[in-house]
Amino acid sequence: MTLDATGPTGPAPSGPRAEHRHFLMCRPTHFAVEYAINPWMHPEQPVDPQRAVAQWDTLRRTYLDLGHTVDEIEPLPGLPDMVFAANGATVVDGKAMSVQFRDPERADEAPAYRAWFERAGFEIHDPKHINEGEGDILLAGDLLLAGFGFRTAHAAHAQLQEVFGRPVIGLQLVDPRFYHLDTALCVLDERTIAYLPEAFSPGSRAALRRLFPDAVLATEADAAVFGLNSVSDGRHVVLPVQATGLAAALRDRGYETIGVDLSELRKAGGGPKCCTLTVREGRATR
Ligand code: ARG
Repeated sequence: MTLDATGPTGPAPSGPRAEHRHFLMCRPTHFAVEYAINPWMHPEQPVDPQRAVAQWDTLRRTYLDLGHTVDEIEPLPGLPDMVFAANGATVVDGKAMSVQFRDPERADEAPAYRAWFERAGFEIHDPKHINEGEGDILLAGDLLLAGFGFRTAHAAHAQLQEVFGRPVIGLQLVDPRFYHLDTALCVLDERTIAYLPEAFSPGSRAALRRLFPDAVLATEADAAVFGLNSVSDGRHVVLPVQATGLAAALRDRGYETIGVDLSELRKAGGGPKCCTLTVREGRATR
């Protein structure tokens, strides 16, 4: 595979090229584990809220240091999971598909994120089914990879295809520990993904093999520390520092890895990607 050397900035640097990103994040001011809606959450186990904020701030600074844009949405009291901004919407081509959470504990986050995108001038689409945003819906080149099985309803996929006009590839998640697609699969660049095969049904696994024969296959040990819950700009991959095996595999492929420690937020079942919503305001170019 050859790299495109005809970009606006002239010849490509050695290794994969980074793309500028615009992210929306939510400071974990009100973070806590007060209920259990995934197997990682244990309300009886203490969390250190200050440490959570410090870890989150390091993630935010990492993005800024890489030259990305980070907007912040106001955290609301009583919504301890609002830090997981990936679940706030799906945003492609200036269209924001709002969300509908499975669990009532998170329901009030949906209008807050919707209002942010409305104020920012995005074309808003309201969900007709359970849809947990970028937690389950990932853009890979021209494809929308969409998880179902635990949170986002399979029926939501048809609406995604209508709204965004991109082929939707439905992927069935089967392991409750990897309940959102972004805990089991990471998009590295337009053509490359990393994933944990065992997190998917046999048919979905076979479909992933056909679509992405060059994918990086993660181990369960790396996935269990949320290694696949990582954020790539095409060149730099920000991932949990504990995911050492995956980081080495990514470096072998030419990516630069940046480890961050989000151990406090992991107590709610989240990692770097969960805290990060990609804002794609641009119109389709093809
Ligand atoms: N406690 C949250 C939940 O169970 C964690 C969400 C993680 N977000 C994600 N994009 N995987 O909903």
